Amino acid sequence: MEVLTLNSSFNPSGAPNGLQQNQTSALPAPTIVNTGILSKPVKAGLPQVPDYLHDWYNWAYLNPRSVQFLDHELIVATILWGNHNLLQRSAFAEIQPGQKVLQPACVYGNFSVALAQHIGAEGRLQISDVALIQVKRCRHKLRDFPQAAVRLADAAQPSGELYDAICCYFLLHEMPSDDRCRTVNALLGSIPPGGTATFIDYHKPCFAHPLKAVMNLIFRTLEPFAKDLWYEEIADFASAPGEFIWRKQTYFGELYQKVTAHRPKVG
Ligand SMILES: C[S@@+](CC[C@H](N)C(=O)[O-])C[C@H]1O[C@@H](n2cnc3c(N)ncnc32)[C@H](O)[C@@H]1O
Repeated sequence: MEVLTLNSSFNPSGAPNGLQQNQTSALPAPTIVNTGILSKPVKAGLPQVPDYLHDWYNWAYLNPRSVQFLDHELIVATILWGNHNLLQRSAFAEIQPGQKVLQPACVYGNFSVALAQHIGAEGRLQISDVALIQVKRCRHKLRDFPQAAVRLADAAQPSGELYDAICCYFLLHEMPSDDRCRTVNALLGSIPPGGTATFIDYHKPCFAHPLKAVMNLIFRTLEPFAKDLWYEEIADFASAPGEFIWRKQTYFGELYQKVTAHRPKVG
């Protein structure tokens, strides 16, 4: 398989458009934009924590105490009913050593370190996350991997960079429909001909799945947008699905899915 643009414009500083939220001391003071009486002030140029993250996932990803508690391999394995290793292996099977890879959101535990090891010293791994606390933790985990960089960015905003492979692990189910569509399209727009985007996420469990009722309860109380993935195909979030070759595989009684979108080479 041909490897594309490995040495293109990979930026090990991880700065989005030249800015990093935790390096603002080296930057001119951010412009504060007043967006109206009811809205929070926005620092121009820096991604804002999306409302859904703030409203529904503060306890999981933004609160420092719970982040400290949750950011462990055992927690991820438990949340995924023991399927994390299987799903991670399945995601990595779509990625070749030496590729230039985007992981558009942090994942708790060792996922990003394992991905950096998987692509090897010749590969390039760009991780992004919209929450500064996650960016900082992930940078710390990857401090010994010069092939990896972590930046503050919203996955729904196109970065303008191209990647051989994109690995989107359990991000889409957290988003409301608009953000989800924008994210899928931003990611698909970041793969050149020959590249592949992989989405691992929830899926509608099969009839009589023993965990169906539990998952229903979890989604109803904690993850209000997740059940959209029970009824909608990831390919349907793409504005130009015909540009890609789609593959879908399900796991663990169909509770999880891997969807790949491959952009074929022209000619
Ligand atoms: C990938 S998801 C969930 C992964 C998995 N459940 C785990 O165990 O970590 C969690 C991450 O997504 C990030 N996130 C949510 N919305 C995002 C967005 N629009 N852009 C970038 N990162 C986002 C959160 O800040 C969080 O760090």
